[in-house]
Amino acid sequence: MVLRVFVVCVFVLSMVSVSWASGAHDGLLCTGCHGIHTAKGDIIFAVEPNKKAVNPKTKQSYTGTTALCLGCHETPDKGGMGIMAVSANMSHPYGVEPNPKVATVPSALLRGGKLECVGCHDPHPSNPNYKYLRVDTAKGSKMSDFCAMCHSSKADAAVVRNLKIFNSMDERSASATTVSSPETRTPMSVPAAPKKKQ
Ligand code: HEC
Ligand code: HEC
Ligand code: HEC
Ligand code: HEC
Repeated sequence: MVLRVFVVCVFVLSMVSVSWASGAHDGLLCTGCHGIHTAKGDIIFAVEPNKKAVNPKTKQSYTGTTALCLGCHETPDKGGMGIMAVSANMSHPYGVEPNPKVATVPSALLRGGKLECVGCHDPHPSNPNYKYLRVDTAKGSKMSDFCAMCHSSKADAAVVRNLKIFNSMDERSASATTVSSPETRTPMSVPAAPKKKQ
């Protein structure tokens, strides 16, 4: 209970900052989703995984990161916090192993063989795309480009060929080179460790 109140407080605070932040998740800060020493789930998630919402496809509760997203993005009666709740009953499927006749999900986007929320959304603040989608849809006006990622036999072939997929999950491709490397930093910027008392 106390924890829940704390998390809600984090939200209220985050809402304030959302007004100036460029993306909807920026105001959460990294620590709104990742509890550094106070984690409640996988990938040190700060939010309790949602065990209440039931997947209409499998009749079971959700697992993995989908349960984490739904800790916020479901109605309170379905175990969430009512923040932009996605209702699973009349929705595109998630938390399912793709039937290859229906969809071909790029393997790097599957988690444990399943399509989870992160198959379609990359929720990190670095993602500039509309609604944190994996593909730039020009603010939703080119939504078919996004669908083409997994339903390519139904999409325009030229769109499929030129598809660019956003992925924040490989630091090697990130802009680490623009961060000054430890060697170029002045030694003074690192505070000396306090001397141990013997
Ligand atoms: C909206 C919630 C959310 C926010 C905000 C968020 N993350 Fe994440 N983070 C996730 C999810 C979900 C994953 C797993 C993504 C996946 O599987 O593709 C993840 C994965 C990661 C990983 C990789 C863990 C691994 O096992 O490989 C790191 C590192 C990370 N986040 C750091 C950060 C940092 C740093 C920030 C702030 C700049 C941040 N996150 C903000 C939800 C979030
Ligand atoms: C800690 C709570 C929290 C978690 C966990 C969380 N979100 Fe969010 N999300 C928010 C908030 C707050 C907003 C902004 C709501 C608003 O603007 O009214 C938001 C907004 C969004 C939006 C809309 C973005 C826009 O531009 O309108 C998407 C898409 C989204 N989240 C996806 C996800 C996905 C996918 C996950 C799991 C990987 C996730 N979120 C996990 C709190 C969360
Ligand atoms: C098959 C792809 C797909 C999956 C899977 C998916 N989403 Fe989305 N989501 C979308 C698209 C596309 C939109 C944008 C719809 C629009 O604005 O037209 C969206 C929009 C959203 C929004 C913003 C809603 C709003 O009112 O603007 C949130 C929040 C969100 N998704 C969260 C989630 C969460 C949480 C999950 C997992 C439980 C999830 N999504 C799974 C494709 C997906
Ligand atoms: C990240 C991959 C991915 C993206 C992007 C994606 N889908 Fe899907 N889609 C799937 C998977 C996986 C299924 C479920 C296949 C199954 O039943 O096993 C599916 C199923 C469907 C179905 C059948 C639903 C049902 O209940 O039988 C429709 C229709 C559909 N998608 C339309 C869309 C549209 C429209 C978009 C773009 C807005 C989209 N999809 C984007 C992966 C994706």
